[in-house]
Amino acid sequence: SDEIPIEYENLFKLVIVGTSGVGKTNLLTRFCDNEFLSSSMSTIGLEFRTKKLQIKNVEVMAQIWDTAGQEKFRAIPPTTYRGSHGVILTYAINDMNSFTGLHAWYEIALQYCPTDTKFLLVGNKKDLDSDRAVGFELAQKYAKEHGMLLIETSAKSSENVELAFITLLKQIF
Ligand code: GTP
Repeated sequence: SDEIPIEYENLFKLVIVGTSGVGKTNLLTRFCDNEFLSSSMSTIGLEFRTKKLQIKNVEVMAQIWDTAGQEKFRAIPPTTYRGSHGVILTYAINDMNSFTGLHAWYEIALQYCPTDTKFLLVGNKKDLDSDRAVGFELAQKYAKEHGMLLIETSAKSSENVELAFITLLKQIF
C-alpha cells in the first residue's frame, strides 16, 4: 500500500527573495546555525532549511526556502511559491537598486502564492548604516502601502534576524 507522508500540523513554508548579494543566504544561516559567512557563494537554484521554534507557546517547524537572486537564475520556478505561508522580501539598506528591484519580486510572488500568504519587508545589512542608501522612512512607506511590516536586520551582527522570522511566523500562526 502507499506510504502516507508524515505531515506536520504546524509546518510553515517561508520563501526568501531579493536581488543577488542582499544577504538572503546569510539571514538563513544566521537564523538556523547562528553563523555568518563573510564570503558566501551565490545560491544557485533552490535550497531549504528547517528550524523548530516556539511561536505562541506552540512548537512549529519553519521550512525556509532560499532562492537565487542572480539575474541569470531569476526565473524561480512558480512551484517554489506553492503552499507558501510567508515571503520575506529582502533588500540591503546600502543598495538602492536592491530596494527598487523588489517590487518585481513582489508581483511575481503575488501571482503564484496562495492568496493568504503574508509578506515581510526586510532591510538587511543594518550594520552598514554609514553607507545607507535606502532610508527607513522610504521603505516604511512602501511596506505600509502593501500591508507589510518592515524590519531592518543584520545577518552579520545578528541584530533583529530572529525577530524578523518570528514576526512573520506570528502573523501566519
Ligand atoms: P545570492 O545567493 O547571489 O542571491 O546572494 P544572497 O542574497 O544570498 O547574499 P549572501 O548571503 O550570499 O551575501 C552576499 C554578501 O553580503 C556576502 O559577502 C555576505 O558576507 C554579505 N552580507 C550578508 N549579510 C550581511 C550583513 O548583514 N551585513 C554585511 N555587512 N554583509 C552582509
